[in-house]
Amino acid sequence: MSSLHSVKKIIKDRIHEGSVVVEGWVRFVRKSKQFCFVVFNDGSTQDNMQIVVDASLSNYAEISKMINGTSISVLGDLRVSEGKGQAVELDAKEFTIVGHVEADYPLQKKATSLEFLRENAHLRARTQLFGAVFRVKNALSYATHRFFQEQDFYWIHTPILTASDCEGAGEMFRVSTLDPKNPPLDDKGEIDYTKDYFGAPTHLTVSGQLNVECFSMGLNKVYTFGPTFRAENSHTHRHLSEFWMIEPEIAFAGLDEVADLAIEYMKYLINYCLSHCPKELEFIEKRESPGLVERLQGVVTSEVVKITYTKAIEILEAAHAKENFEFAPKWGIDLQTEHERYLTEGFHQGPVIVTDYPKDIKAFYMKLSDDGKTVRAMDVLVPGIGEIIGGSQREEKLDTLKKRIKEMNLSESDYWWYLDLRKYGTAPHGGFGLGFERMVQYVTGLHNIRDVMAFPRVQGNAKF
Ligand code: 4AD
Ligand code: MG
Repeated sequence: MSSLHSVKKIIKDRIHEGSVVVEGWVRFVRKSKQFCFVVFNDGSTQDNMQIVVDASLSNYAEISKMINGTSISVLGDLRVSEGKGQAVELDAKEFTIVGHVEADYPLQKKATSLEFLRENAHLRARTQLFGAVFRVKNALSYATHRFFQEQDFYWIHTPILTASDCEGAGEMFRVSTLDPKNPPLDDKGEIDYTKDYFGAPTHLTVSGQLNVECFSMGLNKVYTFGPTFRAENSHTHRHLSEFWMIEPEIAFAGLDEVADLAIEYMKYLINYCLSHCPKELEFIEKRESPGLVERLQGVVTSEVVKITYTKAIEILEAAHAKENFEFAPKWGIDLQTEHERYLTEGFHQGPVIVTDYPKDIKAFYMKLSDDGKTVRAMDVLVPGIGEIIGGSQREEKLDTLKKRIKEMNLSESDYWWYLDLRKYGTAPHGGFGLGFERMVQYVTGLHNIRDVMAFPRVQGNAKF
């Protein structure tokens, strides 16, 4: 009896003999007089497998001419390999070519640039690099749930369609079923969104935070993990219009607990990948990220530095003469990419948590400190990327929150339900948002966020 096996299972279970069927895609064929070697990958693991094909097979001529990308199904006998680099190989008994590759296959060449692969995003999953990156991404996703479930958090699915703007930054994509050529107008001549599908202006969510806060006030430890959308005008290596975010929220807690949770979670993710994806990380390191594994090991074993925004500005001001920043550091400004880089690559080599930002550069919901100038906010910054996590303790006092909404020119009536949380059994609480693709970037060391998203959406491009 022979049965279908994945290469991952064959290696994991140390299967060294017996008749099996394997299926996958050819990487290359090496010919000799009496036989040829077909090296293929089935996607289940980083490891390729070698098939030995004897010239006596009836379709040998066709097999020996196969090119990279050909899909195959092979029945054969496993045996301990004498060659280097693999434990087992397969002696082919029946070799079926499932799908030929046409001559214009874009990935024929061995080395293809990341830019070129971005233009061929529908095919790039077939490369070893993207196989590795997306298996790592899968592991990070699984580890996320494992981490929060182990800590007794509950996963809440917050809405994707929403009438609230969590960040108040106006970077939302509108969702509407109105006829764009002939929308209904109100008496002021403005588009009348009360006639729209939901009876109110509606958008794709920028964050599930406000909704998950509601659940935190009942279930205490909760988290969201889902897609978020931002119509940002940022063409950088770290911005997407559609990205996934993990947002935990905890009740009866302040900023210190939130920061501790963030560090524990990040280290857990890195540890999980180090122990579950060693081959993937090794491959990515060799191809794209020199020193990757050692760097990751360094992150999990070292203390994360925590400084206030005020201290960060002092550090940056002191460094300004030497670094000659484009934007002069000054208390009150938002930290620029160059500042984040200096803090994580110059001042310290590794993640840095910056806390207690000026209230005017942060969102309305953050807890106002007694100084009246700063809020209990934190950003986790990492080398090469900058901000990877943004979080805060939330303002739990009704009056202060109302004042902040007014100061930021938002409308109290839009947030009536959010304010209710502060009226009925309010409690200190807080949480953060981790940009999932930025975390994948950090763990893989890939420079461009578009290379860790299956089909990236950025301004001007929603192809595929
Ligand atoms: O700092 P942000 O805007 O925070 C929030 O949305 C809060 N509601 C989170 C919370 O407290 N529950 O976004 C959180 C993280 C950022 O630190 C960044 O990693 C990521 O989301 N992010 C992006 N990632 C990719 N592309 C973009 N355009 C991103 N914008 C934010
Ligand atoms: Mg932020």
